[in-house]
Amino acid sequence: MIDISSPPHIVHIEVTEDCNLRCPHCYLGEVRHPGRLSLPEVTRLVEEVRLMGGEYAVLSGGEFFLHPEWRQMLEVAKALAVRCRVLTNGVSLRPEVYHDLCEQGLVAELRFSLDGLSHDEVRGTGTMDAVVKAIRACRGTPARVVVNTVALKPSISTLPEFYDLVGRLGVVEWRVDFPFCAGRMIRNGELFTEEDLAEAVSAFGAIVEKYERHSPRMLLDLAGVFKSRCLAYGFARLDLSSHPCEYMQNSCTVRATGDVGWCPSLPIVFGSIRDQPLRAILVGESRRRFLDLSVHSLVSCRGCKYLPLCQGGCRADAWYEGGGILERDPRSCAVMEQYAERILPRLGPLMRRRLEEAGMMACFAH
Ligand SMILES: C[S@@+](CC[C@H](N)C(=O)[O-])C[C@H]1O[C@@H](n2cnc3c(N)ncnc32)[C@H](O)[C@@H]1O
Ligand code: SF4
Ligand code: SF4
Repeated sequence: MIDISSPPHIVHIEVTEDCNLRCPHCYLGEVRHPGRLSLPEVTRLVEEVRLMGGEYAVLSGGEFFLHPEWRQMLEVAKALAVRCRVLTNGVSLRPEVYHDLCEQGLVAELRFSLDGLSHDEVRGTGTMDAVVKAIRACRGTPARVVVNTVALKPSISTLPEFYDLVGRLGVVEWRVDFPFCAGRMIRNGELFTEEDLAEAVSAFGAIVEKYERHSPRMLLDLAGVFKSRCLAYGFARLDLSSHPCEYMQNSCTVRATGDVGWCPSLPIVFGSIRDQPLRAILVGESRRRFLDLSVHSLVSCRGCKYLPLCQGGCRADAWYEGGGILERDPRSCAVMEQYAERILPRLGPLMRRRLEEAGMMACFAH
């Protein structure tokens, strides 16, 4: 159970819905009159992050760097000693500007989107080259540089090769996600089908094998199927009373409209910062009801042999793909079905021990 009095460590702020790209998978979709938070609104949010003892302000969009006052926002955060993680498409600034932001300590972490070897097919000609140059420019600065990838049909089969490229870029972390079916993905569903999911899990198996063989310093998160952090810290053992989105428990999202929700993926609204302060929303009835959910509330997962490993999957996928927040996450069901064959044999002894320690291997016992 999440303690409502414990404030979020991470506040994800979508400062604008404006964007200079039109990615076919973008969950924001077509926004006719893009919303935008004002500098005073973002300043107040950053102050609240500071007052709550928060760890990070995550600044995103749309494209963060299209907000006319993005620099002032970073300066406010720096003055308040709040670290900023910025999510960017990497084509909005010149590489040397990204470099300077990292070097000046205005950004503690830059997350660049790079959607595989067919990135240009998805995001537009020349965009991959621009992102690679931006990442190289930030190497050696004090900032953490991370690559975010969405697994989409054009790139899935080449993800193992792409892993090598990301490794050579020298980033500290590579995160891969499956696309959830919101915004433009609703009409571009052919970009990620059931077959693509199966192919992605196979590609993950090949990546896990390389990762286990070479033990690079880069952290790796493959859509929750493989999390290298768990090599060091282990997994949380299934607790039926814990929240089904345990990993997001210390986060909240403020959208460019002022609406406050849980994570960027789940379209639920607890209130608006245009009506009341963030802290009031976080302890309000609407969020409290959401926090009262537990793994035990997932009636359709009861009795599933994969529950110790899957822990109910993702509530956003359950919402979009399963038809409701308390339903099964059909993607996680499909991944679990393939896990024993495509992932398990590729895990090294330490990861297997971590799974054993958390009781997660029980689902593979005959
Ligand atoms: C909405 S974008 C905003 C930041 C910036 N414009 C960018 O593209 O990185 C934040 C992240 O969400 C990812 N994303 C967009 N649509 C998605 C979807 N349907 N499912 C999962 N992730 C998605 C993007 O690839 C990006 O990594
Ligand atoms: S994913 Fe990012 S860059 Fe692409 S359209 Fe959406 S907000 Fe813009
Ligand atoms: S595999 Fe499917 S049914 Fe089983 S716990 Fe995961 S989401 Fe629920």
